[in-house]
Amino acid sequence: MDVLFHANPSILGTSHRQAPVRDVVASIKDGLSDFFSLPDGYEVVFGNGGASAFWDVACSCLIEDTAAYGVFGEFGGKFATEAKIAPFLSEPVVFDSPYGTTRLPELTPDADVYAWPHNETSTGAATHIERIPGSKEAGALTLIDGTSAAGGLPVDISQTDAYYFSPQKAFGSDGGLWIAIVSPAAIERAEKIEKDAASGNSGRWIPTFLSFGTALRNSRKNQTYNTPAIATLVLMNEQIDWLNRNGGLDWSTKRCEKSAATLYTWAESSDFATPFVTNPDDRSNVVVSLDIDDSLVASDIVAGLRENGIVDTFAYRKLNRNQLRIGVFPSVEPEDVRALTVCIDETVAQLRK
Ligand SMILES: Cc1ncc(COP(=O)(O)O)c(C=O)c1O
Repeated sequence: MDVLFHANPSILGTSHRQAPVRDVVASIKDGLSDFFSLPDGYEVVFGNGGASAFWDVACSCLIEDTAAYGVFGEFGGKFATEAKIAPFLSEPVVFDSPYGTTRLPELTPDADVYAWPHNETSTGAATHIERIPGSKEAGALTLIDGTSAAGGLPVDISQTDAYYFSPQKAFGSDGGLWIAIVSPAAIERAEKIEKDAASGNSGRWIPTFLSFGTALRNSRKNQTYNTPAIATLVLMNEQIDWLNRNGGLDWSTKRCEKSAATLYTWAESSDFATPFVTNPDDRSNVVVSLDIDDSLVASDIVAGLRENGIVDTFAYRKLNRNQLRIGVFPSVEPEDVRALTVCIDETVAQLRK
């Protein structure tokens, strides 16, 4: 909040095409390049609209014809739905599994894109990021939704062609922006698709707002195509700086691991909570979902915590489970997570009286 206060009036409310704001964008690009140890040729691209908008950018400019998806929750499913309704794409191939597990797409004839979430925020299940064997050799791109994972879970960017996310989770900012770290192969793919569309050969309409090339050209000038929320940029820049000063991705992933382990260990020894994700290999270190015993109503616990100033512990709305879901992003102090377990125990003790 201090950084926002000091950004006023020199940056907040000023033109995003002038040096003060462009310097912030340049600093975010440099900071992310360090944080994710960007391989040669990879670039950081920005656009407005959050990760949800990036799904449509990908449908417009990165999927040539057929995408194969790993779907194990709401967010992975939403991207697959966008590809399904795009009239110029073939029916996507969906590999799905029950919520609380993970599922990667399998090598699929004709697939030119493979996509899945690094962390499924709706369930608290996380994957390891490695290209599907044979997919790169077949010329396919790997697009990973890192929205709730980026900054909190380990990733080797060279295993992806677009690692995209919104800044409101581990990057401690507000929403409204998408950030994609993209490979030369992704850039080349978008150039080809956009060129074909412009010449009228492909029957594809690419709205300028969804044009990857437009986003890339603006990002190279440290701008966005249209006006961004400047406070979002200022907050994100500060958070990246803080993460890098503390030790970067290695530090932040260990910090999240510690917080998550506190919750999983506590739940396993509790008489009313159990980790929703049963396979420990699939458990997320950034979003922890805990099933609550039927003798209690999770929303009563959530309400009790909220009355005491502890907010947003509820399950994903469409999951319809008697569950708590807790974000343990890098900004969260691991000691506060320990304190939270004591608060939950106390709330349950009060409810049982
Ligand atoms: C994994 C994942 N993907 C995509 C999104 C959509 O992000 P946004 O709301 O910023 O568009 C979210 C939002 O929480 C998410 O958790």
